[in-house]
Amino acid sequence: MEISAFHFVLSMAILVVGSSPADAYDPDPLQDFCVAVNDSKAAVFVNGKICKDPKTVTSDDFFISGLNKPGNTSNPFGSRVTHAFVDDLPGLNTLGISIVRIDFAPNGVNPPHEHPRASEILVVLKGKLYAGFITTNPPNPNHKNKLFAKILKPGDAFVFPKGLIHFQYNVGKTSAVAIASLNSQNPGIMTIPKAVFGSEPPVRADVLVKSFQVREKLVEYLQSLPWTGNN
Ligand SMILES: *[C@@H]1O[C@H](CO)[C@@H](O)[C@H](O)[C@H]1NC(C)=O
Ligand SMILES: *[C@@H]1O[C@H](CO)[C@@H](O)[C@H](O)[C@H]1NC(C)=O
Repeated sequence: MEISAFHFVLSMAILVVGSSPADAYDPDPLQDFCVAVNDSKAAVFVNGKICKDPKTVTSDDFFISGLNKPGNTSNPFGSRVTHAFVDDLPGLNTLGISIVRIDFAPNGVNPPHEHPRASEILVVLKGKLYAGFITTNPPNPNHKNKLFAKILKPGDAFVFPKGLIHFQYNVGKTSAVAIASLNSQNPGIMTIPKAVFGSEPPVRADVLVKSFQVREKLVEYLQSLPWTGNN
């Protein structure tokens, strides 16, 4: 048996032994999708990653440096997310946490986005941010989705519940810095305008014309933008 396949079987055995029927539930996905295979040689992914042999683990596996360095905000959004997710910090694997630093130029925005796999708590270290999130659709289709938003100053923290669309905007005169923690090793970032208007291949324009109730010219313009990300 290959070592990776062995680890997979071992992990599955631990999972089965470790869960009782009373707390049985689907595990939270740690990747966008996981296409099933029934070939054990190919089935090496456990919680998105295989595990390193504990004998070879070092302190550096749990360490990352550079979060004191300002991110490059020279992009159309005027913000930069510097992340420490599991791909940047392998020791996070299976622990359900991660952290980011977000830099904002004056008027910079971390545009409306959502994390499919994590709630977030953000603390402002410098500057003044207008931050908020929007609820899912209310049961009555005539009722509006609700915005919860605050102006945040250094030392203020704000919560963005899992999966909900949220944003931060620098309303101060200086650059701004925030640190945010997320309860997933791989939260996923879905930036709404970038995803909707900047996908490859593009979404058919008539879908967006009807969905956003705008003229085709505007959709064509939005789809022509480069949509560089900020993370
Ligand atoms: C596993 O794969 C084989 C070969 O592709 C297929 O014949 C078989 O039906 C599969 N078994 C299951 C349980 O999907
Ligand atoms: C910041 O990003 C811009 C755009 O990608 C690039 O031209 C510039 O060299 C970068 N600045 C630094 C200091 O890395």
